[in-house]
Amino acid sequence: MTNPLIDPFARPISYLRVSVTDRCDFRCVYCMSENMTFLPKKELLTLEELDRMCSTFIGLGVEKLRITGGEPLVRKGIMTFFRNMRRHLDSGALKELTLTTNGSQLRKFADALAECGVRRINVSLDTLDDKKFADVTRWGKLAQVLDGIDAAQEAGMRVKLNAVALKGFNEDELFTLTEYCAARDMDLTWIEVMPMGDLGNEDRLDQYWPLSDLRRQLAERYTLTDLAERSGGPARYVRLEETGQKIGFITPLTHNFCESCNRVRLTCTGELYMCLGQEDMADLRAPLRASDSDAPLQEAIRAAIARKPKGHDFDYSRQAVDGQMTRHMSHTGG
Ligand code: GTP
Ligand code: 5AD
Ligand code: SF4
Repeated sequence: MTNPLIDPFARPISYLRVSVTDRCDFRCVYCMSENMTFLPKKELLTLEELDRMCSTFIGLGVEKLRITGGEPLVRKGIMTFFRNMRRHLDSGALKELTLTTNGSQLRKFADALAECGVRRINVSLDTLDDKKFADVTRWGKLAQVLDGIDAAQEAGMRVKLNAVALKGFNEDELFTLTEYCAARDMDLTWIEVMPMGDLGNEDRLDQYWPLSDLRRQLAERYTLTDLAERSGGPARYVRLEETGQKIGFITPLTHNFCESCNRVRLTCTGELYMCLGQEDMADLRAPLRASDSDAPLQEAIRAAIARKPKGHDFDYSRQAVDGQMTRHMSHTGG
């Protein structure tokens, strides 16, 4: 690699998140509306095109690839893509190949994912209560996800749970979720709810449970030690001394972590979003399709990175939601 990707704020870009489908078998309330219109299949990048996109980014210095969605495991043929990405792990160019999933398809795919070199996955799970799970995901079945988590662990992958902190919803599950993870040797990361998607009938301010508050509650029962280590994402971690487990905090609202941002997001149609919380994007599908040579694509990637903004403008502090994105989270994969 000659010239790594560096943005205007001197941040090296080494982490690519790729949303391989906008579809999902759930309809989480903070992510999608109940009646989503999905992209026509012909708009999607083919699996071969996804491979070429990712390989080009890896050629430009990307070392961490996270596959997201929608739900990545509902994309037809996705295991072919994972199998092909393994070559970049084997060559040493890629340090980590991973995914963020809702867990519903893990029983079916966990072994194959492990064989492709996936060592660690993030599973989104906000509650351990059947009824609440059905409410928040609208379409999901908790038992299927818990079984999927077991399958991932049986396949030898490390599992981290991602829970969106929702006031009045999972506040009372802070300790049950912590204990569930401790019993299974899993880490747990909490995420502050972000103002994405159409907020017509829900109010993010009402749902917002600041992690500073959650942390205080956790400290009433456990001894928290701040950890310097990073997983390459935005989470900051503490260790609970009593159980040894790690708890992560992703705090776009209470503590902006944009200064150390190392990532960009590719959608399933080949749009590159330089920030989760801004509208600007670059079309990479046109340069990809325009030529068999990767040069125009590389040039378009560099031009896009040169426009990466400093950060998002999410803000709830004025008793109103600022920086809201009309885009659904499922579009860019979180
Ligand atoms: P690891 O640290 O590797 O475990 O991954 P990660 O935290 O980068 O990935 P994950 O998919 O688990 O991300 C969790 C959530 O954090 C995402 O779905 C987003 O909601 C949020 N997140 C990740 N990156 C950003 C970012 O750049 N900006 C903001 N505002 N939120 C982000
Ligand atoms: N705010 C914060 N996190 C969200 N996610 C989806 N929508 C939102 C939102 N509005 C999370 C999911 C999953 C990850 C991909 O993004 O729970 O863990
Ligand atoms: Fe699907 Fe994940 Fe969005 Fe839920 S948060 S609807 S599981 S993509």
